[in-house]
Amino acid sequence: MSVKFRVQLYCLLLMLSAFKGESRYLQENEVTAEGLLSLLNSEVKRELSEDLIYRRPLRCLDMLSVEGQFTFAAERPQLNCAAYFIAEPNEVINIEYSAVDIDCHRGDFLKVFDGWFLKGEKFPSNEDHPAPLSERYVDYCDTGVLRRTIRSSQNVAMIFFRIHAPESGFTITVKKLVNPFPCNIISQTREGSFTMVIPHQHTNCSFSIVYPVEIEIEELSLGRRDSNDASVERSIPGCGGAGDFVELLGGNGVDTSKMLPVADICYSLNGPAQMKVGCDNTVMRLVSSGKFINRVAFQYRPLDHHELQKIKGNNVEDFCLIE
Ligand SMILES: *[C@@H]1O[C@H](CO)[C@@H](O)[C@H](O)[C@H]1NC(C)=O
Repeated sequence: MSVKFRVQLYCLLLMLSAFKGESRYLQENEVTAEGLLSLLNSEVKRELSEDLIYRRPLRCLDMLSVEGQFTFAAERPQLNCAAYFIAEPNEVINIEYSAVDIDCHRGDFLKVFDGWFLKGEKFPSNEDHPAPLSERYVDYCDTGVLRRTIRSSQNVAMIFFRIHAPESGFTITVKKLVNPFPCNIISQTREGSFTMVIPHQHTNCSFSIVYPVEIEIEELSLGRRDSNDASVERSIPGCGGAGDFVELLGGNGVDTSKMLPVADICYSLNGPAQMKVGCDNTVMRLVSSGKFINRVAFQYRPLDHHELQKIKGNNVEDFCLIE
């Protein structure tokens, strides 16, 4: 364990322990998405041959991006635990539990959540997830071994657990599967590129980057409405009632329905359009009526300290510093 990692983990644990004993466990904590993802940087990405499974103990607060088998064994009562999983944008996560030894009657639980729950907010939001909220939780204490395998709808998932008796615990096996139509995504990295396609579906998809970034749209094609004098309408929501458009959202939580529009673009673009967003979370969202094949290609990179300072200097009153 590197020193940096230990310090980060220690800070997160401190934050977690600050609200231990609260029944709302983890719903109002200060664990940020960026803080969680920083834990990943130190996780060795392992390439194991097919018949070897990566195994390690699961921590009470954990973050995983690798396939493998993870075992939790309580050394003492652990009441507010959560493990977050993240895969590549075009993958979903399969979680299977085994050897579950918890006492549901005593208040222990083990729940899988289809998405991430952070600082009281959910990703994907209730509006964007295909299933109602109640179906996004699978509670081992309700379903027992009837549902040992749970597959996420997007590249992020998590488990919540509470265990009173020392020596109790469980094992989960995590696998990543290819998702041919990725829709709601949290980026694992601060920089990269992605092409989002919605083929004739009345749905909205969001790509979320939990860092301040510069984002550049390389290509945007929205059905048939082409225009040469494409314009980026800054902070004017709505796009005049268009059914197909791209919105760039900024905010400080993970729930896209609570974020504010930075820009709306309703016309196909060929040239690049770029924007710097100094929010904790930047989201590229494609709104689709189902009449067309919509497609947006973009790339992003983190803002450096100097750029953030400059943006701050320009817009003191903006909701999260956009340039
Ligand atoms: C997609 O988003 C638009 C605009 O925010 C909204 O009017 C529409 O109902 C959403 N569609 C779906 C399927 O959620």
